[in-house]
Amino acid sequence: MGKFITLEGMDGAGKSTHIPNIIALLASRGHEVISTREPGGTPLGERLRALLLHESMDAETETLLMFAARREHIARVIAPALARGAYVLSDRFTDATYAYQAGAKGVDVEKIAQLERWVQADLQPDVTLLFDVPVEVSVQRLASARTPDKFERESADFFSKIRTIYLQRAFDNPARFRIIDANKPLSEVKKLVEEIISTV
Ligand code: TMP
Repeated sequence: MGKFITLEGMDGAGKSTHIPNIIALLASRGHEVISTREPGGTPLGERLRALLLHESMDAETETLLMFAARREHIARVIAPALARGAYVLSDRFTDATYAYQAGAKGVDVEKIAQLERWVQADLQPDVTLLFDVPVEVSVQRLASARTPDKFERESADFFSKIRTIYLQRAFDNPARFRIIDANKPLSEVKKLVEEIISTV
């Protein structure tokens, strides 16, 4: 079996910047690396992503579509890659559903847990890098970024709920999560990421 690594954090935490470096580090150790993302990662998943990021919808509809995209992603990409020994790096996974749909939008956590059991069975990431920044930093970074999607237009209160759930999940699952202070200078964050990846 390969390894399943996920990246999480609020919008604006800067996680995606580190993906090319992580891929290069893992590849330099001789691993096959599959870099993917959620929502997305398959042709159908990418079509669902376009709907999820730009259409207004009920929060439970949103949750179901996230898990529909995830099922497709696991069945067609993640599980086969892990089975052949590859390293799978996913920009977001189910922790994001707990943070955004449950934490910020109020979807019942137990419903999400049911979908998680159905869609994932016993699949969980081996390691999750949580890029943590104060809410003000995230909001400020988003304000100066590209045209915001539906999620990126949300308020500081919304992001504060997301951060709380992410940190809570990290404290509840210390063996899986590595919290990265992503408010540090980029060179320091890069070093922290490299240290963590060297242990995976
Ligand atoms: P990204 O901008 O990091 O690619 O993520 C896309 C957006 O989708 C981001 O604002 C978080 C949101 N999202 C959820 O709300 N729930 C989920 O389960 C996932 C995977 C992403």
